[in-house]
Parts: sequence; structure tokens; C-alpha cells
Amino acid sequence: MSDRVIIFDTTLRDGEQSPGATMDLSEKIRIARQLEMLGVDVIEAGFPAASEGDFEAVKAIAQSVENAQVAGLARANFKDIDRAWEAVKHARHPRIHTFIATSPIHMEYKLRKTPDEVVELAVAAVKRAASYTPNVEFSAEDASRSDRDFLVRIVTAAIDAGASTINIPDTVGFAQPDEFGALIRYIIENVPNSDKAVFSVHCHDDLGLAVANSLSAVKNGARQAELCLSGIGERAGNASLEEFVMALKLRPEYYGVECSIVTEQIYPSCHLLSLIIGRPIPANKAIIGSNAFAHESGIHQDGMLKNRNTYEIMTPQAVGRKSTDIVIGKHSGRNAVRTRLEELGYSLDTDQVNAVFAAMKELADKKARIHDEDLEALVFSEVYRMRIPDRFRLSNICVQTTMGSTMPTTAAVVMQDHDEEVRLAGFGVGPIDAAFNVISQICGTSAELEKFSVNAITGGTDAQGEVSVHLRDGKYSATGRGSDLDIIVASAKAYVDALNRLEHKEKDVISYKQNPVD
Ligand code: KIV
Ligand code: ZN
Repeated sequence: MSDRVIIFDTTLRDGEQSPGATMDLSEKIRIARQLEMLGVDVIEAGFPAASEGDFEAVKAIAQSVENAQVAGLARANFKDIDRAWEAVKHARHPRIHTFIATSPIHMEYKLRKTPDEVVELAVAAVKRAASYTPNVEFSAEDASRSDRDFLVRIVTAAIDAGASTINIPDTVGFAQPDEFGALIRYIIENVPNSDKAVFSVHCHDDLGLAVANSLSAVKNGARQAELCLSGIGERAGNASLEEFVMALKLRPEYYGVECSIVTEQIYPSCHLLSLIIGRPIPANKAIIGSNAFAHESGIHQDGMLKNRNTYEIMTPQAVGRKSTDIVIGKHSGRNAVRTRLEELGYSLDTDQVNAVFAAMKELADKKARIHDEDLEALVFSEVYRMRIPDRFRLSNICVQTTMGSTMPTTAAVVMQDHDEEVRLAGFGVGPIDAAFNVISQICGTSAELEKFSVNAITGGTDAQGEVSVHLRDGKYSATGRGSDLDIIVASAKAYVDALNRLEHKEKDVISYKQNPVD
């Protein structure tokens, strides 16, 4: 048996069935290109008979993908199969994937067919597909709730009819890992022509077991897994590609198989998907969530600083992420705070670190996350005993935008620069752009906006918006924050806050670092 697992990505087909994850043609092509960079073996591009849009998307992907196989899904009828072939035939490596349900409940209530009729339809469908290409996959839908010996019968017939891949789906996420692994082993051992096909699995996550079931199947002889980026898919989703792949990569001694995935492309792929479907990656999502490489507990932070293998089983870089995040918060220890202060350029003695540490703990009771700027402010208040007044203050802002007109948006801003009041009005391509243009002119800055993000602090349409703005001016950068019921006012506040922090860094911080005051 081969020691290579074929990675079949179905983000563009089953993944797209995830409520709210619809993608347009150009977005699907972007994902398909990224999947190629990720190194997947097969891209299931869609279900051509489902709609004209799906057909066009599968065809366009087939035309633009170079190395990966491109599969089109088809029910077990000639019309679907012909349509799937019309779409995938443009690919360098086309595949037709045909399926029919095999569980008693699906056969009786959904298909209204007897088991004999289902076998007949499956065989006819596979033969029709095989008349177009030798690359035919047959799926026994709801296999995990099907009779084992009926599965053996239909799979044997499908292979005889020309199927080169046999897929055993856990369509409703009902299987348990040991049981599912045993089912795969049973089918492979009892299908007389099983050596003529690759056995595949396709697991749904209704009980959160999709990855565990897929891995158990690999342990028992499956050599293709059907997966989705970030685990999106019908209902609770499909097995997540990143989790499945990293388990194989991190535990070769356990699984003894390889796969073609370029792991450094995992995060970029999931991130692209998240931007396209407009669904943020949950913070606690394995491998790709923002917390996956963040350490907050003092004991963990201390261990990490001594040897990262204490609390990390892979590096963030291995999955295409920037770096480990030592989160400073109420669980952080002294060592983590000292290290972060050193990274920020402060070399403080033990008493000074202790003072900042104690103040940080107090602040952390009020604020979930302590940012670098907060720590720096504590250095000034606790060590240098100075409060640096902000140079710029926003007094008023008024933004006007006219819908459907070619008139640019206008912003009028009143600010204090030290004690002097300054008023200015100007234009922009939208309200935020107009506000930032005017503020930057008042403050005479050429700082570049590197990041801008908006979060709702509370729910509902009356939610407070919290805006975070990251600016860079040469080698200095600073993050400013602002909150308000009005997003534009929150943005303006955050922008002014960032400018003040830059101002402190560029002037005062440097001189304090050179001549610290005790
Ligand atoms: O979940 C399922 O059974 C499917 C098949 C079409 C493979 O998506
Ligand atoms: Zn599915």
C-alpha cells in the first residue's frame, strides 16, 4: 500500500455549501490558485449541474489550474455526468466524482429506490464517467450509516465499472474514530478488487470528530482525504485541511504516511478564504486561530522563554504565520514582562521591573490585553514618574458625504495642538479618508497607515465601535485606539492617539532611553 495520502480539497464545493460562504467566479479562481500553491493534489471545483454559475466556475478553474487534478461533482445520472465532463474536460488532469446514497434511510426516503436499483444506477454512472476519463471517483453517500456488506457489494461493482477512487463519506458526522477506521479496514479487506482503487474518506464535523475520523481511516488504509480549508462545509463543516495535514506532518512515526502540502502556505490559504467569505477565523481555532501561538499563563510564558518546545509542538513559521505571541495580561509572569520590556528597548533593574509588573497586574484587572503602548505608559508612570501630555487633542469633527453624487466626502476638524486651536476642512474618497487627510494635515505628519481595524465592543446597532490604527513613520511605529458610538469619531480618535504615541516615541522616548530619570 502506498505511503502517500492524496489531499483532495473540497473548499470550493462542499466548503461553499457552508451557509454564507458563497464565492463568485473570480474569488473561486483566486482560491484555486492558492490551493495549487498549497500543494493539494485534487481540487473539487464545484457541482457543474447545480447551476450555470457553478458550471462556469468549474470550467474556469479547470482552465486556470496547472498541476492539481480538477474534479467536478455529479449525481449518478447521465445528465449530471455529461455536464461535469463538459466543465472539467478543460483541465490538464480532469476527474469526475459521482455519488449515490447507500444507507437504508437515504435509499428508502430520499431516493425511493431498492438496494439493487442503487447498485444498477451506480454502475451505469461510473461506466458513463469512465467513457470520458479513467479518473473516476465513486462516493457511497452516508456510507457510515450503510450496511457494511452492501457497501462491499456496491464498491466492488463500482471498481469493476471503472472507478479508480472509492470514497467512503461520513456524511452526517455520526461515526466514531475507532468504528470508522474499522469500517474502512473491513471494506478494503473484503472488496476483492480493492487493490485497483484508492480508498478515500470524506468526514463531516457534526460531533467535532471529522479530523479524528479521517486520521483513523488513514491508520486503516485510506489514502485520500477530502478536506476543507478552516474546516468549512455543509452544516458543522468538513474535516479541516490544516488540522489533518499537521497531524500527519508532526506524527510521521505514528501515521507513517506523507502528503504533498507546503505547510507554510496553510495560514495564507485560510486567511485568504476568511477574507473572501468575510468570516473571521475563530481565535481558538487549531493551527490558524490568533490564539494558537499565543501564551498568556505566567508558567507557560516562562517555559516558552526558556525553551519554546515546552509549550509549542510546531513553530508558527511552519504553518506560514509570523511569530509566537507572548500575550501580556493578568496571567503573565515577571519574566515575560521583563522580556517584553527588553524587546521594547528598556533595560530596567529588578526594582523597576517589579514596579511595572505590579502596575501591569492592576491594569490587567480592568483591561483584557496589555499592549506594548500600555507597558510603555507604565514605564513612564512607574519608573520615570512622568506623564507625558499629548500634543494633539481632537475637539470636534464633522464629516459629510452625499450618496450617489460625484462630490468627494468633506471633513471639518477642530483640534488642539498643544494649547493652540487649529481648524481645517478637506476632502477624501470616503469619510475615514477625509477625516484622516485633514488630521494629518493639521498634525503635519507623513506617517503611513499600516493597519486599520474596527471591532464592535457590544452587540446591536447601538454598539460602541473600537477602532485600532497602526501608523509607521520611518523606523517608529505606534498603535492608537479610539472608541465611540460613531465609527468615524472612533477612527479619528484612534488616529490622533496613534499620532501622539508616535510623537512620544520619536522625541521623548529616545531621550528618556538615553538619559533615564530615576
Ligand atoms: O457528505 C457527503 O457525503 C458528500 C458527498 C457528495 C461526497 O459531500
Ligand atoms: Zn460532504
